[in-house]
Amino acid sequence: MNILVTGGAGFIGSAVVRYLINETKNNVLNVDKLTYAGNLESLRDIENNERYRFSQTDICDRVSLDQLFKDFQPDLVMHLAAESHVDRSITGSKDFIETNIIGTYQLLEAARHYWSQLESTKKNAFRFHHISTDEVYGDLESTEDLFLETTPYSPSSPYSASKASSDHLVRAWHRTYGLPVVITNCSNNYGPYHFPEKLIPLIILNALAGKPLPIYGNGEQIRDWLYVEDHARALYKVVTEAEVGETYNIGGHNEQKNIDVVKSICQLLEELAPNKPEGVHNYLDLITYVKDRPGHDLRYAIDASKIEKDLGWTPVESFETGLKKTVQWYLNNTDWVQRVQSGEYQNWVKTQYDE
Ligand code: NAD
Ligand code: TYD
Repeated sequence: MNILVTGGAGFIGSAVVRYLINETKNNVLNVDKLTYAGNLESLRDIENNERYRFSQTDICDRVSLDQLFKDFQPDLVMHLAAESHVDRSITGSKDFIETNIIGTYQLLEAARHYWSQLESTKKNAFRFHHISTDEVYGDLESTEDLFLETTPYSPSSPYSASKASSDHLVRAWHRTYGLPVVITNCSNNYGPYHFPEKLIPLIILNALAGKPLPIYGNGEQIRDWLYVEDHARALYKVVTEAEVGETYNIGGHNEQKNIDVVKSICQLLEELAPNKPEGVHNYLDLITYVKDRPGHDLRYAIDASKIEKDLGWTPVESFETGLKKTVQWYLNNTDWVQRVQSGEYQNWVKTQYDE
C-alpha cells in the first residue's frame, strides 16, 4: 500500500514512519512542514530506504496537497501533523487554530476530492485516519473514572479545543460525504525522539545539565503514559483493521502522578548517569515547584478495552521498562539532543521558565 503520513518528522509521526518502513512492506510519503517540532534527524535510520519519500509541505496548502495526492495515489492517510504542546497553545494559540483546525479541513478536502475519483475497489479500501488525543475529553474528577470512546468532549486548553474541533470535522466529513475515516484518541506518549519541551525529556535533560526540574503546581496531576512504539503499533492496527467510522481510545494502563514520574527519572539517572554535574549531590534535589499551568487538567486515564477486544492490541512496554529505555536513549543520543536544543528551543525555555 501507499501510505501518506502527515507530521512524520515529529515525535509520534517519526515512530510511525520507522514502524511502517521497518515492520511492513508499504510505501510511505511523509508530508511535514518542519516546524520547530519536526526533525528529519529522527528519520536518519530509514531516510535512504527506497520505500520512503519526504515532502516539506504545509497541510494548510491545498494546492500542494492536491498535487501530492495525485502523484502518490495513497491507499491510506495517517494524519498526525499538529501543533501539540499545551503550554505553547496558552502563550500563542494562532498556529494551533491554523494547523489543527484549518490544516485538518484542507487535508480532509484534498482527501475527499482524491477519494471521490477512485474506482470502487480502491475507493472502498481507502482510509483517512485522524490521530487525536485523550485531552479532548477534558479531565476526570474521580479517581475511578476512565475515558471511554463515548465520553462527552470537554476540552480545557486551546490545544485540546483545536484537536476536538478537528475530530468533529473528521466525523462530519464521514457522515456528510461518506469519507471512510477512523479516529484514535491516545494518552500521553513518551520514548525516544521526544522534543524536550514535554515533561519526560525536559526532566531528563535538565537533570543531566544540573538545572531545576520544574513541577507545575503541586505535582499531583495524573497522566496515563504510553510508550511511543506501542502507540505506533496500535495506529497501524487501527488503520488497517478497524471498521469505517470507528473511534478507538489508546492508553497504556500507566497512571502516574507528575511528581512520581520526576522522582522515577531521578532514580534512573542515579543508576545510569552517576557522574552528576558539579554541585549536584542528588538529582532529586533539583526538583523545583513552579507556578501552575492555567486551566491545568488534573487527571487523564484511558479505558483501552475496546481496542483490546476488537483488534487484540495491548501495550508491550511497562512504564518501568519504557522509562529506562527512554532515559538510556537520551544518554546515548547526545548529538540529536544538541541539535534540537539549539535555536528556537532556547527562546521557548527562556520565555516559559524565566531562565
Ligand atoms: P510533534 O509536535 O512532535 O510533531 C508534530 C509534527 O507536525 C512536526 O513534525 C511538525 O513539523 C508537523 N507540523 C506541524 N504543523 C504542520 C503543518 N501545518 N503542516 C505539516 N506539518 C506540520 O507532535 P507529536 O507528539 O508527534 O503528536 C503527533 C500527533 O499525535 C498530534 O496530532 C497530537 O495531537 C497527537 N497526540 C500526541 C500525544 C503525545 O503525547 N505527544 C498523545 C496523543 C495524541
Ligand atoms: P506535557 O508533557 O506538556 O503533556 P500534557 O500537558 O499534554 O499532558 O505535561 C505532562 C504533565 O506534566 C502535565 O500535567 C504538565 C506537567 N509539566 C510540569 O509539571 N512541568 C513541566 O515543565 C512540563 C513541561 C509539564
